[in-house]
Amino acid sequence: MTRRAQILGVGGYVPPWVVTNAYLTQWMETTDEWIVERTGIRERRWVEPGKGVGASDLGVEAARRALESAGVALEQIQMVVFATLSPDHDFPGSGVFLQRKLGLRPMPVLDIRQQCTGFVYALSIADQYVRSGFVDHVLVVGSEVHSTGIDISTRGRDVAVLFGDGAGAAIVGPARDADAGILSAHLYADGNHAEELWVEVPASNKHPRLSHEDIDAGRHYPSMNGRQVFKHAVTRIAEVVHESLARNGFTIADLGCLIPHQANLRISEYVQKALGLRDDQIHNNIDRYGNTTAATIPLCLDEAIQAGKIRRGDLVCLVAFGAGFTWGAVLLRW
Ligand SMILES: CC(C)(COP(=O)(O)OP(=O)(O)OC[C@H]1O[C@@H](n2cnc3c(N)ncnc32)[C@H](O)[C@@H]1OP(=O)(O)O)[C@@H](O)C(=O)NCCC(=O)NCCS
Repeated sequence: MTRRAQILGVGGYVPPWVVTNAYLTQWMETTDEWIVERTGIRERRWVEPGKGVGASDLGVEAARRALESAGVALEQIQMVVFATLSPDHDFPGSGVFLQRKLGLRPMPVLDIRQQCTGFVYALSIADQYVRSGFVDHVLVVGSEVHSTGIDISTRGRDVAVLFGDGAGAAIVGPARDADAGILSAHLYADGNHAEELWVEVPASNKHPRLSHEDIDAGRHYPSMNGRQVFKHAVTRIAEVVHESLARNGFTIADLGCLIPHQANLRISEYVQKALGLRDDQIHNNIDRYGNTTAATIPLCLDEAIQAGKIRRGDLVCLVAFGAGFTWGAVLLRW
C-alpha cells in the first residue's frame, strides 16, 4: 500500500517595496477606483529595479520559511519542484539556481510551467514522488517576478495592474498526523485557449526569437483576453472544487477552507457565491499582493494558517486557473 503525503510546513515571502494603485497612475492612465472595483487589488509588491533579484531569490526566502515551519532540516530535502512563468533565465530553469543558493546537494530538480496553476501541479508531483517512496521530503516552490516583464504604460494597463511579485513554498513529506495529508489532485489543461493569455516572444519558432520590431510592438509583454479568462476561470474553478470533494465523498458543507488562486477578487467572489461558501470558508489576500501566479496559493495558504482560519484536521481545497488554459485542485486534510 502506498503511504500518504502531507504538507508539513508552508512559507511565504514578498519583497518589501509596496506599489500602490496610486503609484501606477504616474505611468499609465488608470485610477485606484477602476482597479479596486474591477479587481479588488489595492497594492502589490515589486522587487526593486536593477537589484538583480529574480524568481529564485524570492523562492529561497520562502523555502527557508517553509523549512522552519515544517521543522525539516535542509539536509532532509531530496527533491525540488519549482513552478514559475518568470524564470531567472530562459534556461536552465530557476530550480537549479535556487538549489545552489540554498546549498542543496545534487538531487532531482524539476522546473514546471503551468502558470497560475503551477503550484497545484507542483504539489501533485511532490505527492506522487512521496507516496511512491521515491523520496521522503520534497521542497515545492512557486515564485514570480512579474514587475520586470510587464508593460507599465497605458498600452499594457489591463495586465500590468493585476500582477505582483512574490514567492511561496511548501515541504511535502510522509504524513505525520493520522488522517492528515493530500487526499487527491485533479489537473487539467486545454490548449485551445493558449493565446488568450500569453507572452508571444521570444519564440523558438521565429528567427531571431526576438526582433526589434517585436519589442516596438510590445510582443514581449503578456497579453490577455480578460473577459475570456474571467468566464472560463469561474466555470472551471467551481467545477473542479466539486469534483475534488465528490471524489472523496465530501460536500461543500465539509469544506473547512477554500484557497482559490488570487487572480481577481471578483472571480473569487463569483466562485464563493456559486459554491455557496460562507466567508469563513474562503481566504483571499489579493488586495495586498495582486496576482502572484504560481506563488499565490502558498502565500494565501500560509496567511490563512497564520490567521487561524485553517486548523489541524480541517478539509482544505487549493484551486487554481491560469494561462494555457490550465486549472486544477488539490484536496487535503490539514
Ligand atoms: C482585466 C479585467 C479586470 C478587465 O475588466 P473588464 O470589465 O473585462 O474590462 P474590459 O477589458 O472590457 O475593459 C473595459 C475598459 O477599461 C479599460 N481598461 C483596461 N484596463 C484598465 C486599467 N487598468 N485602468 C483603467 N481602464 C482600463 C479598457 O481599455 C476598456 O476601455 P474601452 O471600453 O474604452 O475599450 C477583467 O477582464 C479580468 O479580471 N479578467 C480576468 C483576468 C485574470 O484573472 N487574469 C489572470 C488569470 S490567471
